Amino acid sequence: MKKINLPYTLVDLQPELSSFKDDVIAGLGQMPKTLPAKHFYDKTGSELFNAITKLPEYYVSRAEMEILHDFGPDIAAAIGGQAHIIELGSGSFEKINQVLPFLDKPAAYKPVDISISALQDTAEQVLKYYPALEVTGICADYTSTLEFLHEDLEINKTICFLGSTIGNFQREEATDFLQSLGSELAADGQILIGVDLKKDTSLLHKAYNDEKGITAAFNLNILERMNKEMNAGIHADDFMHHAFYSEEKGRIEMHIQSNKEQFISLEEHTFHFSKGETIHTENSHKFSISEFIALVDQAHLEVDAFWTDENEWFGVFLLKKP
Ligand code: AVJ
Repeated sequence: MKKINLPYTLVDLQPELSSFKDDVIAGLGQMPKTLPAKHFYDKTGSELFNAITKLPEYYVSRAEMEILHDFGPDIAAAIGGQAHIIELGSGSFEKINQVLPFLDKPAAYKPVDISISALQDTAEQVLKYYPALEVTGICADYTSTLEFLHEDLEINKTICFLGSTIGNFQREEATDFLQSLGSELAADGQILIGVDLKKDTSLLHKAYNDEKGITAAFNLNILERMNKEMNAGIHADDFMHHAFYSEEKGRIEMHIQSNKEQFISLEEHTFHFSKGETIHTENSHKFSISEFIALVDQAHLEVDAFWTDENEWFGVFLLKKP
């Protein structure tokens, strides 16, 4: 663990050697081929994701921002005073900044992100607006460790998990993850979570197949990352973006599809792709309100409050311990 003192504290919990290479070798060796979605977020990937959030088709971020903006004071009141805000996957500062100004004497803000560059941007922006706030940036993969939550177990923490990233987990994993977050909370701790709701399939489809091809570039950037970090020598043109909504699974699946039969060499490994074969890169689960409440219940938590937008496209839930 590296601890660096800037105007804010930066804690680096990332292993020296990134798990990216290991995950690529393991994931491409599977049948069907798969990669964890967290590896999208290198510097370019984080920038592309920010561009996605501004696309007309990608209602997800806009609907959530609308809720946070319209109900910022209500959400802040429900969170209460002296809060220690821990934001998982903080990405950009915009979301939490809809709530921060209304919080009663927040005690600390801890953004957690897998991308060190995104994390530094967030920390710097927070300090620009709130120079007196205690800010600790934590560079970590929260899907593999929650150790940064262990300290101060008795502190009244509010874990913010916005952006509907909960949808990236398989449904059972999502329950387990919420339950483990709950076990890191003191009796009066809380979780503020953003959830993308079920809606018309064509809207979902468009959100992941935008006209400008930014989502395609975001998906295919993982091949560029293999080229940069593993000398893969892949021609991104030999693959294409494939995203679709599965009604049965209630999720968008993103895949990288091979346009032809080909081999890819990574270190001492060679991987065969048949024409049309895919690497499954992401699931983005969508929930009905009642499905999400049932999930919260299974995770031994309770919904304390819930906010939605006019269209009911997105939900922001405040969870507490029973
Ligand atoms: C950041 C995981 C919520 O699933 O909608 C955007 C990522 N993928 N477009 C999502 C994403 C394709 C996004 N999350």
